[in-house]
Amino acid sequence: MTQANKKDGTEHEVLMRDFRMADYDQVISLWSRCLLPFRPNGRDSRERIAAEIEGPSAIFLVAEERGRVVGTILGTIDGRKGWINRLAIEPDRQRGGLGSRMVLEIEARFKRKGLEVFACLIEDHNPGSMRFFEEIGYKDDRTVHYYSKRRNEGS
Ligand SMILES: CC(C)(COP(=O)(O)OP(=O)(O)OC[C@H]1O[C@@H](n2cnc3c(N)ncnc32)[C@H](O)[C@@H]1OP(=O)(O)O)[C@@H](O)C(=O)NCCC(=O)NCCS
Repeated sequence: MTQANKKDGTEHEVLMRDFRMADYDQVISLWSRCLLPFRPNGRDSRERIAAEIEGPSAIFLVAEERGRVVGTILGTIDGRKGWINRLAIEPDRQRGGLGSRMVLEIEARFKRKGLEVFACLIEDHNPGSMRFFEEIGYKDDRTVHYYSKRRNEGS
């Protein structure tokens, strides 16, 4: 598939593939550029990601354009639902349909595993992401509050 750069009009092949550990540094730098809140000393550390992708519950995909990682999505399966995490598209590639394509791909992977509910958590200060998920058919359940208990703040 090709992806248009809306800024300079160029179009290049974008390959969607499984994440490899060799992508780790590029992925962290992409998440920083996208201002995605992530946990480099907790669940997003090199060691934790390496362990996670070895297990049965993670599907970690990247979009690669000319050797550069321009998109990520991490699907996690809790046995009941497929969760979408760490969705990020390179700023100069946003609004070109790549985010939607990555979500569709992770949904297809979830469906193949028999899952029927796909979900994500979006922070209050991210209206763009809320708009995006609404646009692709997700509904905001305003009756739910997210509670968590952490062994330490960086987890
Ligand atoms: C949210 C994000 C993943 C969307 O990816 P994308 O590739 O830009 O999304 P798409 O191009 O597939 O967008 C599809 C539609 O969603 C809506 N949409 C996407 N981003 C939007 C925004 N910032 N504001 C309003 N609507 C938006 C639009 O209707 C868009 O269609 P259009 O461009 O034809 O108007 C991307 O903006 C991003 O990486 N943001 C920074 C990281 C982040 O917030 N991740 C999500 C954490 S929960």
